[in-house]
Amino acid sequence: MNDSILVTGGAGFIGSNFVLQWLAHESAPLINLDSLTYAGNLANLASISEGPRYRFVHGDINDRALVAGLFRRHQPAAMVHFAAESHVDRSILGPEEFIRTNVHGTFSLLEEAKAYWKALPECDQQRFRFLHVSTDEVYGSLGEHDPAFSETTAYAPNSPYAASKAASDHLVRAWHHTYELPTLTTNCSNNYGPFQFPEKLIPLMIHNALAGKTLPVYGDGQNVRDWMYVEDHCSAIRCVLSNGRPGETYNIGGRSERRNLEVVRSICAVLDELRPAAHSYADLITFVPDRPGHDRRYAIDSSRVERELGWHPQVSFEDGIRRTVAWYLDHQDWVAAITSGSYRDWIATQYANRGGAA
Ligand code: NAD
Ligand code: DAU
Repeated sequence: MNDSILVTGGAGFIGSNFVLQWLAHESAPLINLDSLTYAGNLANLASISEGPRYRFVHGDINDRALVAGLFRRHQPAAMVHFAAESHVDRSILGPEEFIRTNVHGTFSLLEEAKAYWKALPECDQQRFRFLHVSTDEVYGSLGEHDPAFSETTAYAPNSPYAASKAASDHLVRAWHHTYELPTLTTNCSNNYGPFQFPEKLIPLMIHNALAGKTLPVYGDGQNVRDWMYVEDHCSAIRCVLSNGRPGETYNIGGRSERRNLEVVRSICAVLDELRPAAHSYADLITFVPDRPGHDRRYAIDSSRVERELGWHPQVSFEDGIRRTVAWYLDHQDWVAAITSGSYRDWIATQYANRGGAA
């Protein structure tokens, strides 16, 4: 075994931020396995793609022969598993791919990781880690005054996406409990930042505002999410990978609860300042029919990772949203390249029964 790590889904939003951060801060090589779905984009990694410590492999996490070959060839010290179908609205319209990738894909990786790990010498077995990147959505929805989700909160997933991630978390837990595979699981709140596909709230709103389109806020806009700048999530994953205890789960959050309407208004305020138009961008806000089964509130209690591993988020919501809006303004070519073809089909389908709001 050497020091390298095998990453899945490294061409997606969080994965590509992680790959860039890893190569900037760590010395070990990284192999990135990604099937390049609509959400995967190699342009995110153009700045490091030729580097000697980086290798991209185009493939599916369900291709077990491929995964086994990667373990055999690269002898990694860890796997960091990001690959997933990640958008709740897509899971509502078409859940099957979520089961295939998030549930069966995680099972395939666990089986191949177990086979590789079992054949390692004992000292390497102790070093190896399988880090599974998961979400706070597995815990369900909070009432306004409920305490934030902790690692002991009971699972109560509500959307097909959340259920598929909950299932994958349970598989990871079982592979540790039964086979002693040294796993780590992180459950993080809503991320935002560079390279996020403009189907998720923050980049969708920036994209629509700049195009002069309406800003479709679901329901009454009072749903709460706990926002985390993506670089903070990536630093938390690196911290858990080096210092986390095998078999444990760690909640990662930004202590940054905001109502959706507040988030959209913050984006509009930054845009009004950085790219002034004749009217405030907030005039484009439109309330549209709610997401079915829409979770009311998420909030993460990240005191365990802070207390036990010494990790703390560095970027406030105000700073992060400003950086994010500025990034999208500076990378309109990136947005243009991914918002053609199938993106337009998705937006037309998703917002068709919401008054064609977007
Ligand atoms: P994303 O949708 O932007 O990227 C997913 C990546 O996985 C893409 O590059 C895609 O090509 C790849 N992929 C999908 N199916 C694959 C398959 N079968 N084989 C190989 N590669 C495949 O997702 P994201 O927002 O970057 O999320 C990454 C991970 O973090 C996910 O597991 C998600 O559940 C979790 N997470 C996301 C958030 C968030 O706010 N975005 C918060 C907490 C946890
Ligand atoms: O909590 C972590 C999760 O956060 C991740 O596991 C998921 O992968 C990620 O997609 C995200 O899920 P959400 O459903 O919370 O994110 P999304 O950006 O889709 O929506 C955020 C909130 O904004 C949610 O309450 C729905 C609302 N919304 C979203 C869209 C796309 C709108 O009001 N209008 C919209 O057009």
